[in-house]
Amino acid sequence: QDQQKMDQFIDGLLSKMTVEEKIGQLNLVTGGEATTGSVVSTDVESKIKAGNIGGIFSMSSPAKIRKAQELAVKHSRLGIPIIFGMDVIHGYKTAFPIPLGLAATWDMELIRKTARVSAVEASADGINWTFSPMVDISRDPRWGRISEGSGEDTYLTSRIAREMVLGYQGNDLSQYNTLLACVKHFALYGASEAGRDYQATDMSLHRMYNEYLPPYKAALGAGAMSVMTSFNDINGLPATANRWLLTDLLRNDWGFKGLVVTDYTAVNELIDHGLGDLHEVSALSLQAGVDMDMVGEGFLTTLKKSLTEKRVKEEDINRAVRFVLEAKYRLGLFDDPYRYCDEQRAKREIGKPEHLALAREAATKSFVLLKNEQQTLPLKKTGSIAVIGPLANTGANMPGTWSVSADHANTQTLVEGMREVLGNKVKISTHLGANLTEDAALQERSTMFGRTIPRDTRPESEIIAEALEIANQADVIVAALGESSEMSGESSSRTDLNLPESQSRLLAALVKTGKPLVLVLFTGRPLTLSVEQKAVPAILNVWFGGTETGKAVADVLFGDVNPSGKLPATFPQNVGQIPLYYSQKNTGRPLAEGAWFQKFRSNYLDVSNEPLYPFGFGLSYTTFEYSPIQLSSSSLTRSGQLKVAVDVKNTGNYDGEEVVQLYIRDMVGTITRPVKELKGFQKLMIKKGETKRVEFTIGEADLKFYDLKLNHVAELGAFKVFIGTNSRDLQQADFQLTD
Ligand code: IFM
Repeated sequence: QDQQKMDQFIDGLLSKMTVEEKIGQLNLVTGGEATTGSVVSTDVESKIKAGNIGGIFSMSSPAKIRKAQELAVKHSRLGIPIIFGMDVIHGYKTAFPIPLGLAATWDMELIRKTARVSAVEASADGINWTFSPMVDISRDPRWGRISEGSGEDTYLTSRIAREMVLGYQGNDLSQYNTLLACVKHFALYGASEAGRDYQATDMSLHRMYNEYLPPYKAALGAGAMSVMTSFNDINGLPATANRWLLTDLLRNDWGFKGLVVTDYTAVNELIDHGLGDLHEVSALSLQAGVDMDMVGEGFLTTLKKSLTEKRVKEEDINRAVRFVLEAKYRLGLFDDPYRYCDEQRAKREIGKPEHLALAREAATKSFVLLKNEQQTLPLKKTGSIAVIGPLANTGANMPGTWSVSADHANTQTLVEGMREVLGNKVKISTHLGANLTEDAALQERSTMFGRTIPRDTRPESEIIAEALEIANQADVIVAALGESSEMSGESSSRTDLNLPESQSRLLAALVKTGKPLVLVLFTGRPLTLSVEQKAVPAILNVWFGGTETGKAVADVLFGDVNPSGKLPATFPQNVGQIPLYYSQKNTGRPLAEGAWFQKFRSNYLDVSNEPLYPFGFGLSYTTFEYSPIQLSSSSLTRSGQLKVAVDVKNTGNYDGEEVVQLYIRDMVGTITRPVKELKGFQKLMIKKGETKRVEFTIGEADLKFYDLKLNHVAELGAFKVFIGTNSRDLQQADFQLTD
């Protein structure tokens, strides 16, 4: 009935629209608050009045949005309201950890809550559409945008995609406090060659279907009503012009009924991809299945001519307009175009104490303890600490990359947050210690959007000597090192994933003091930390934890919160191992279990195949012991269920949360299958001394994959099931799938 009502309304509206007005609805312009391309929208006001704009993104505040909406509603001929988008990626004013950090929580309820709060804050500020979730699988940490996704794993990313969509959209998009979700970047952007942005992806279909496409599908399954095309070329045709992708797969196979928008000037970029001039590529893109053109105005300036020349059909334009209008209808904009423009609500809802409390909780849960020799952590709340390093005193970097709406200038620094939590109990001194990198030009490129890190131009030896004086007077040293927030994210790919040398030299000097030392590592991606793993007794990876990072780090360092984060992406030993991910293939010449090198086997001469830290890895202040796996049966029928259980005992001295992970391996198939694939996990609190039984249920659906003909099948035969604390340290058992 609702669908019928909507169809009638939109049919009526469409019948009144001129071709120009229809094409105008397909035009998405930027309000200019955060731009990621050289082209910026112009003459926005006059275009709104002329009915040449369907949506605006990167504009915020009820007052500004009301003004723009009034122009559309009161001054354009048909008064069609504008849809307002924004990159609300990991929070709005209240920033949560970067998405890779949120994924490290493995806490689905928490992730959904962060998306809910993001929707509440952004919608209170006039926005009704977010360009999130980003669900691109990436197995290449050189790619800066790995920070914006949920890491390397298909299953984990799919679960998170679902929670994010439900958090943003709720179950009724017309509610004043929900956002239309936009799944991006469709598709396979995380697999672009050599970890470079805007690059090509070349991939077999069965790999796409098995490993890279499921998260997009999961987000759509949760009801996401918009999709953003990716910049990359897919097997020879860029996504934004790819009819197979946008129409055959997305619309016809998956039945998607929402809005397809391009990325920033992606239509125009088809010219540089080599597909033709603007006139030609705009027609191509519309026909491929794009509905809305972001910033480039190829649709606005060429589609009318293409229609007269019969390069595009009116039904293609009507289809695209319909999806734009439906999105607005679903958001309730035709009922009340000012529904999201309430100044009072903005004051009440944005940055509420409970939002900050959630941000602090999310940050503490995202931190991953990579090493803790001789129980260096947790620290005692007495004595003195020296917090040394370029990331110690920069609030602007704490929200992390692509936190467009966070208040960077007023975000607490690590040291400020620690001081607030610890009060007078611990004396905290601090020093820059080293420049972010010795290369001033690289530092400049790594500190965009005004999120600077101070630079000391004195000789490095002087800076380190001064830092050592402070460090030597303290009982404990905390080294706050790593990347700046803008060393990851869009247009921030890197080929060297070591700590910058200036920071390594500082760290070596701090190690030499012989004081207890903790490395608090800031990063938007897996780094190569072989040196640090050997040299430093304790490493806490804190990603970029959002607005409440400083306090959250204090919570974990001093034991108020026991770390429980687990890596959503493998940390390689060195860049040469990339791509390195746990769900690799066995090959025809696998290494013998535990072997480092064997001649004429699949390995390297100079480094073992092992990662430095495997997917799913993360320590706790306590220890957990896993019993052998108990299976309800040694076989599973297609319609049956298999119960798989372990007992997990907290054998250490602290209560702690553990993420119990379940992996499956299909031992024999018609195509080669990964050595293991995550198929389930449970995060649970286990008190000190307590044992908890953790049970999973496996059915045929968990064993299915796409074969060479893209049939979704489970093949009879032998399987292994693994349960454990990370993708490497696992208990295992065998079972058969039988008819
Ligand atoms: O949403 C983003 C996208 O992820 C990258 N290019 C710009 C878009 C809009 O800001």
